[in-house]
Amino acid sequence: MNILELTDNRGNIMYNVAIMGATGAVGQVMLELLAERGFPIGELRLLASARSAGKEVEFEGETHTIGELREDSFANIDLVLASAGGSISRKFAPCAIDAGAVVVDNTSAFRMDPSVPLVVPEINPQDLATHAGIIANPNCSTIIMDVVVWPLYRRSRVERIVVSTYQAISGAGARAMEELESQTREVLDGKGARPREMPHQTAFNLFSHNTQIGAEGYCEEEMKMVCETRKMFHDDDIRITPTCVRVPVMRAHSEAVNLEFEEVVDESEAREILAAAPGVEIVDDVEANHFPMPIEASGKDAVLVGRIRNDISRADGRGIDLFISGDQLRKGAALNAIQIAEELVERDLLKAPVATAGS
Ligand code: A2P
Repeated sequence: MNILELTDNRGNIMYNVAIMGATGAVGQVMLELLAERGFPIGELRLLASARSAGKEVEFEGETHTIGELREDSFANIDLVLASAGGSISRKFAPCAIDAGAVVVDNTSAFRMDPSVPLVVPEINPQDLATHAGIIANPNCSTIIMDVVVWPLYRRSRVERIVVSTYQAISGAGARAMEELESQTREVLDGKGARPREMPHQTAFNLFSHNTQIGAEGYCEEEMKMVCETRKMFHDDDIRITPTCVRVPVMRAHSEAVNLEFEEVVDESEAREILAAAPGVEIVDDVEANHFPMPIEASGKDAVLVGRIRNDISRADGRGIDLFISGDQLRKGAALNAIQIAEELVERDLLKAPVATAGS
């Protein structure tokens, strides 16, 4: 029996890919991006709950049937893109690894495990080299902030970040997005709001992020921004104080960020650094009062940054203020996961798939 690499007709290696949570808000954007970016897919296996099993989905002109996620779903799979929730990842990622796959996990299940790399390819791609089967995709608000902060941090260490978020509803999943749309209609029709997916009215309202508040008075989402940034920057001493808020926006998060540097960093220098930063686009038209907006960040790969200015509250020139908008489903989730997969291929860190041919 010969062992062969799976290749396309140009000799490129193809990988068998499974999506865990293929019917979800992030799963659907993963599919969109796999096609858009031409990821080298051999077999595509779409997995979700029993509720969705049997549903059909089009991908690059072919019809795929959603399968029920089970422990034995991963035979011959090389890469799993997981976005079905933390408890599902905790249960099924080990099965995928046992079957020989590498898992890029979009949930919080393994992010703070010291043996699991937590990666934004623009920040710490070198951490991929230590993976042992799982790579964690960071929290969406963290990715969107850090892809902008990192290039500035490289110029001068950031000592402290004060950040307030304006978070889209997409972070709470496809059903929450549907709720925002239907609730907006209901309120306009005078019917009043009946929240089901979210704890409070989302239409025409905003509220403190819907994760549990911990002992220090910070919610889980806020602590993710603190701990995950420290892990990716390899800086346990960076001080970060976030306030996370949900706003009635469909799919892009915005953030007001104040940075305190070790050294003097001038506004014009910050602008130059950000103009050259990968994954970042400056939108900062002072005359037209046109700055990053979630509606313009939606559907874009780049994180938009503007309102770049010296912090007037300090005289030492070590403060910069920014306003950021980034697509929560793209860079905040699906795009970052697929960029990780692309880096794994590029760095030869994804096991080459095999096909067996009769002798
Ligand atoms: P399903 O659509 O069948 O419920 P979102 O974050 O947008 O809510 O999406 C969550 C994703 O995770 C969906 O694809 C959902 O599938 C999937 N999912 C939720 N619970 C399970 C489960 N118990 N087993 C497998 N997939 C699940």
